[in-house]
Amino acid sequence: MLDDTDIRIAADWLRDARRVVIFSGAGVSAESGIDTFRDDGGLWIDFPPETFATVRGILRTALLRPRRCAEFLHRILEPIAQARPNPAHQALAALDRHVETIVVTQNIDGLHQQAGSPIVHEIHGSLLETCTLRGRFVKLLNRAGLMQVSGAMSCAARSLFPRLRMLWAMRPLVGLSRHGLVRPRVVLFGEALCEPAWTESLAAARTCDLMLVVGTSGVVLPAAMLPSEASANGARVIAIDPDDAGRCDLWLRGAAGAVLPLLLRRAFGETTEL
Ligand code: OAD
Repeated sequence: MLDDTDIRIAADWLRDARRVVIFSGAGVSAESGIDTFRDDGGLWIDFPPETFATVRGILRTALLRPRRCAEFLHRILEPIAQARPNPAHQALAALDRHVETIVVTQNIDGLHQQAGSPIVHEIHGSLLETCTLRGRFVKLLNRAGLMQVSGAMSCAARSLFPRLRMLWAMRPLVGLSRHGLVRPRVVLFGEALCEPAWTESLAAARTCDLMLVVGTSGVVLPAAMLPSEASANGARVIAIDPDDAGRCDLWLRGAAGAVLPLLLRRAFGETTEL
């Protein structure tokens, strides 16, 4: 249950802040229909990351279990292709009208930008972009394009020739271009975080006076260092999460889509436009 005193304290801190960093994870997009990773029914429960989220693992799965690989790609692509920003993304975008706000997100769904947040560092990359193997940007994709790939993956998973169908379906995301081999710009386990997003995120965490940690279990390093970096440099840290949010100065317990609009209204007035 969300405590009214906690919301009042958080609203006071937000009003006093001069530079806010939002550190977001899968929970902020849960109300847009995108599964988290580690909650009940989360992506890593059905598709273990050792098999599906390392370069070696995903290549091996594509080779040896193409049907399963196509199922995984369909499961990850479809919700992102269909997603729209929810009230949490919208409230965070509206916050920038009151105080300088930098979003650092582990999410790869592009929803903070779509909601209107002006500065978004995607430290784990974006499923809406492709890049070379060296991380050089190649092209932007749109949700309709992702939806087509997702539909083709679903067909591949049921096909008599799943490997061929999957390879064909992946053409918008993986292949050869004049820049060399191309892949989705997403960070897999064991890979470095996206640059310059990570360096800029660390700098932002060290210079903000308030950090809102929204919808992340905070277990994946090095991203999970950011709240302690902020705290070590004097910032207050507020966590917004229905489950125990770990170390923070204040925990607002609840779904981001309910808590954030309430917090904004309490901080900046009931007529605050979201
Ligand atoms: P997790 O699945 O680990 O954590 C999701 C968090 O969101 C949990 O703390 C939930 O309690 C919370 N949550 C669920 N619904 C929520 C809601 N409606 N509002 C607010 N919070 C809610 O996801 P992440 O912490 O984002 O990285 O995972 C971090 C990284 O692990 C991901 O970026 C991904 C993954 O492996 C890579 O793949 C490199």
